[in-house]
Amino acid sequence: MRQFAWTARIRSPTLDRMPGMRIAISGASGFVGRAAAADLATSGHTVVRLQRGQNWQPDTGALDAAALGPCDAVLHLAGENVAAGRWTAARRQRIQDSRGPVTERLCRALAALPQRPRVLVSASATGIYGDRGDTELDERSPPGSGFLADVARAWEAATVPARDAGIRVVHLRIGMVLDPGGGALRRMLPPFRCCLGGRLGSGRQWVAWITLSDLLRAIRFVLEHDELRGPVLAVAPEPVRNAGFTQALARALRRPAVLPVPRFALRALFGAMADELLLASQRCRPQELCQAGFRFVHPSVGPALQALLGH
Ligand SMILES: NC(=O)c1ccc[n+]([C@@H]2O[C@H](COP(=O)([O-])OP(=O)(O)OC[C@H]3O[C@@H](n4cnc5c(N)ncnc54)[C@H](OP(=O)(O)O)[C@@H]3O)[C@@H](O)[C@H]2O)c1
Repeated sequence: MRQFAWTARIRSPTLDRMPGMRIAISGASGFVGRAAAADLATSGHTVVRLQRGQNWQPDTGALDAAALGPCDAVLHLAGENVAAGRWTAARRQRIQDSRGPVTERLCRALAALPQRPRVLVSASATGIYGDRGDTELDERSPPGSGFLADVARAWEAATVPARDAGIRVVHLRIGMVLDPGGGALRRMLPPFRCCLGGRLGSGRQWVAWITLSDLLRAIRFVLEHDELRGPVLAVAPEPVRNAGFTQALARALRRPAVLPVPRFALRALFGAMADELLLASQRCRPQELCQAGFRFVHPSVGPALQALLGH
């Protein structure tokens, strides 16, 4: 079998707090997974990729414990991309199956390992809150309704076997991750660069967002902080309405953003995905991270986009 581990070469301040851990990552080929694997490796940890069909079988939950070696932590990011296309019945099924059921099988396998990891950081999403208008939301707010909310609720509930086995479980409720190299921002850049950008629908919906670099720092933070468990919002402390986000992006690109996209057009283009991903309002604040002393490098969207887009 190929060697899946990267050994760290660069020391970072993290090492002064915590000796290097062996961390297994699922979804390591994805937008966040690739960056997290590189970041953790350069922070002094040994990263082992959970590779579907090789050392991990998501359909059965089987893990090749010998190939993985004893891991201190698992970062579970795997799942069918929710923004890759219209939510046909088949895609909805894949989105669902790759969250709750895959996570539950993984957790049962982790619980059965001779040497269990101490911590499981399992991705979740602010989509768990559904569409909540101007209501302020934090980790204690109840989940909302809708397809994504149902998927995320099942995804979080699926970790019970790991928690029951004494593994510290963190559900990282991630907002829209911003980086020009991938995810939503990369998809937005071409229309905005061509002066075809504009607010979505009324533009009044709140956007929960976080820069990729702050997310990577938050992942390291939750791995290090044993007091954190359960839901932890990984979003910047200053949510912004979609209209404000649109203006900030246009300013960072030095382009006008004068072409609003009406709700009906979004629905015609993206179907139900438009309502839940583009038009839903989630005014989230990261209470748990802030109380634990986490400091955001990019708390405000304007400077964040300026920093990311190089002006
Ligand atoms: N990016 C965001 O803005 C954002 C926001 C909120 C929540 N999240 C969540 O954070 C996690 C990572 O996000 P991401 O942007 O890195 O996602 P991504 O780019 O779509 O990567 C997800 C990875 O999961 C694995 N995967 C794909 N289809 C799968 C399936 N059917 N079953 C099992 N595994 C599958 C693949 O990795 P391998 O081939 O290596 O297995 C893929 O690269 C996801 O669970 C996502 O829902 C992301």
